[in-house]
Amino acid sequence: MSQERVDRVFHGDGEVKPFEFNENVAHVFDDMAERSIPWYREVQRMVTTLGVTFFKPGSRIYDLGCSTGTTMALLAQAFEERGVDDYRLMGVDNSEPMCREAREKLGKSPASPDRWTVDCNDLESYPIENASVVVMNYTLQFVDPLAREELMGKIYRGLNHNGVLLISDKTQQSHTDTSRIFMDNYYHMKRQNGYSEMEISRKREALENVLIPYTVEEEKELFRQSGFEAVDLFFTWFNFSSFICMKKG
Ligand SMILES: C[S@@+](CC[C@H](N)C(=O)[O-])C[C@H]1O[C@@H](n2cnc3c(N)ncnc32)[C@H](O)[C@@H]1O
Repeated sequence: MSQERVDRVFHGDGEVKPFEFNENVAHVFDDMAERSIPWYREVQRMVTTLGVTFFKPGSRIYDLGCSTGTTMALLAQAFEERGVDDYRLMGVDNSEPMCREAREKLGKSPASPDRWTVDCNDLESYPIENASVVVMNYTLQFVDPLAREELMGKIYRGLNHNGVLLISDKTQQSHTDTSRIFMDNYYHMKRQNGYSEMEISRKREALENVLIPYTVEEEKELFRQSGFEAVDLFFTWFNFSSFICMKKG
């Protein structure tokens, strides 16, 4: 990792503004994700394995909130290694700097350009169709809670029979004691990954009212209400969880 790509977004002491996925964040996002999201690489590995397992020839794989295209590049690599040549990866993100980074990363991947697209678009207006796999990692938490139900319904309708939604989010706990203990562990992890107290506290302030987490129960309820017949956790670490939601109907 070049020093220039190290996350120092909250290093200074200027005014803390609401968090945005702007140019500065996109430039260092890969480092930010690895140091701020617990078991980031392992979750990516699990999503790649599950994506390959559930992919059906001729269908599409979507990555909603694809950021710098890390998941898409891993999926592309996995398909190429297996000699799969009829996959189609559809990335979408409403941050132009993120989309630029994603296109650059995928351009360097073994996938030919006709295997993937990255659209700079809002999830609310983005069509989803003929999908066997939809990935949505750490993005629902940034969607307006009032728009979450409609978005989940659209994902369900866009999936084919036996298709899956693989979705990860930061979660909120239902009890204050567990909430405090989980947060303590989370901030401990961030300190271990080199963030200072000041950076941790400034980022927490910037994310207030921008990242709105649900509890694991609320997320499961949302997925079930949207139609998903089989909803299970495939990974959890304190205040972070990943779910697999299957469309059986
Ligand atoms: C935490 S990042 C996702 C990380 C990425 N999925 C990964 O695993 O590396 C959230 C992303 O969602 C995008 N995003 C947030 N709200 C969005 C919306 N309504 N429509 C499209 N993209 C959105 C942001 O621009 C950002 O790149």
